[in-house]
Amino acid sequence: MTALGRSRPTHVLANAPFRRLWMAMSVCSLGDWLNLLALTALAGNLTQGDYRVQSLAVGGVFVAKMLPAVLLGPLAGVFADRFDRRLTMFCADLARFAVVLSIPFVGSYQWLIIATVLVECVNLFWVPAKEATVPNLVPKAQLESANQLNLLVTYGTAPIAAMLFAALSVAGDLIAGIVPFPLGRDATGLALIVNACAYLVSAFLIFTLRDIPKRDGAISTPSVLKQVVEGWRFVGRDRLVRGLVIGMLGAFAAGGAVVGVAKVYVEALGGGDAAYGVVFGAVFVGMALGMFFGLRLLRELSRRRLFGLAITVAGLVLVAIALVHNLVIVVMLTVVLGACAGIAWIIGYTLIGLEVDDAIRGRTFSFLQSTARVTLLLVVSLANPLAAIFGLHVLALGEFSYRFDGTNLVLLIGGALAVGVGVLALRHMDDRKGISLAADLIAAVRGEQFPTEAAEHVPGLFVAFEGGEGSGKTTQSRLIAIWLRDQGFDVVQTREPGSTKIGMRLRAILLDAAERGLSARSEALLYAADRAEHVEKVIRPALYRGSLVITDRYVDSSLAYQGAGRALDPKDVSKINAWATGGLVPHLTVLIDTPPEVGLTRLGGAADRIESEPLEFHERVRKEFRALAAAAPERYVVVDGTLPQDVITRQIQDRIREILPDPVPRESEDITGTMPAIRD
Ligand code: TYD
Repeated sequence: MTALGRSRPTHVLANAPFRRLWMAMSVCSLGDWLNLLALTALAGNLTQGDYRVQSLAVGGVFVAKMLPAVLLGPLAGVFADRFDRRLTMFCADLARFAVVLSIPFVGSYQWLIIATVLVECVNLFWVPAKEATVPNLVPKAQLESANQLNLLVTYGTAPIAAMLFAALSVAGDLIAGIVPFPLGRDATGLALIVNACAYLVSAFLIFTLRDIPKRDGAISTPSVLKQVVEGWRFVGRDRLVRGLVIGMLGAFAAGGAVVGVAKVYVEALGGGDAAYGVVFGAVFVGMALGMFFGLRLLRELSRRRLFGLAITVAGLVLVAIALVHNLVIVVMLTVVLGACAGIAWIIGYTLIGLEVDDAIRGRTFSFLQSTARVTLLLVVSLANPLAAIFGLHVLALGEFSYRFDGTNLVLLIGGALAVGVGVLALRHMDDRKGISLAADLIAAVRGEQFPTEAAEHVPGLFVAFEGGEGSGKTTQSRLIAIWLRDQGFDVVQTREPGSTKIGMRLRAILLDAAERGLSARSEALLYAADRAEHVEKVIRPALYRGSLVITDRYVDSSLAYQGAGRALDPKDVSKINAWATGGLVPHLTVLIDTPPEVGLTRLGGAADRIESEPLEFHERVRKEFRALAAAAPERYVVVDGTLPQDVITRQIQDRIREILPDPVPRESEDITGTMPAIRD
């Protein structure tokens, strides 16, 4: 995903052998989706009548589809190593063609399940052979584009299959009305025949693909369970990855619940196979809409927030789907559901690509894929029995009766689960703590530029010290820097204004007591200019090196002195500072709260321009500092500046300790890149 636009897919497709393989993959994917739709629909139709049996029957199809991969994956990998890849794929295609074709002719549920297991077993050979062939046909530099194309047809064919299925159902009904339909018991037979033909076309394409080398290297499918266990060891350690994985799996589980019960659910709403196809397609149409328009509309919102939000909204929509019994509304809601899923999916993948360390990125992806499969299997196999056990209940309220059955319950649980996971992901990964989500959203929809980078994205740790005149923050920040250096951290201690060459000249202007003519706005802009210089030249480079940065004063000083003190609009001050800093927010701000009458008496020497302001000015400043801290308590520690110095130091140390990375280097070399550098 990250390289989208960097490489042009047309280049890969200009490669004739790859194009042929890709076409085979596309028809197979289309066939696979059609297969899923037709089989679940057929299973439902074959067992019509009893609601419970029907639920279980549809669930059985999913289990049959996923069990072979989970159980036999490694075994098939070993076998696949020994065969010629082209021949493997060709035979597999012919086998799939024959088995799928037999399903509508036999027309029994038992055979449907056996046939499904057989087809999936064959897939275990086809897929690794195909995966291993791609690098044989495509040069290394184009591999990424090739993979993007693969992904495109794997998921992109789903809505096409859904539409095709709906159309075939209608066509099947028409034909059946004219001549007694000989294939199976209903129109799903037609879909299965088309599905079988797709495999036949693929067999032909593969057969004529002579460029696949006879045999080289090993193809293997590692055990799904092994991947899950190993992957968790890496993934579980990183807070961001954990949030992402939990979010994506939760979304997957909720999606699984929908797919699992959709057939029976749609039937309960009075819809037939065509309606099932439409609902199924709506998910994917929504996904496409979300990926393109949703992300564009909310471009200014923090990606991490959008990720959690999308999953939460998906959950709420799912709850609505569970409760509303109107097919048209359900289809519309399903589009919204798909859009949320699409947004979450793209962001999740992109964030992993961008923010997860290179060394564990591959493992994260494969972990995600394996756990997604296991999750899907679990959810689908549990969803249908659960629906069956719950059965059908009709609540009679006077004249009205309200139907609530097992599928409604499953959707409701799925929705609640997604809401929970979404909120968890929001909490886990929030990079704009203390700023209300609603305010962010409104700003994003209006297209206002909001800070894009928060300190959490950087490897280092950023702490700011704030307080009024004579509060003692300069002394405290020094003591804390020494304490941290003693523990082996690489500490950069700095201050505002005046920590850069330009900054020193700005400082001279700003604090010169003679400079009385300075207007409030130019004062705010000059402080912001100093800060922009400070962030770009000192703070950000240090954070990217993984250092611990301690600054004496930061943005809050401007909000307090220029915003509250000089009575400028706080929104304006906040905006110019967000722009100046590129949205860099400290991980922690230490506020040393000292009454101005105490602080001002501590000052020695001649008062500078600001120190000589009246007491009310300093009162306003203090009030603003306290208000800022109160609005985001998790990002602040407020200490009483009238306490003895050593007590203050200890309080600050206790709070900083909570956010310090483990000073003992971790056992794996993979993750040190994400932690502040440790000096030994
Ligand atoms: P400084 O000599 O560094 O004193 P202190 O020990 O109080 O930090 O002077 C900084 C002065 O600049 C202080 O009076 C507050 C003022 N100031 C602002 O008004 N806005 C700002 O954004 C910053 C960083 C400082």
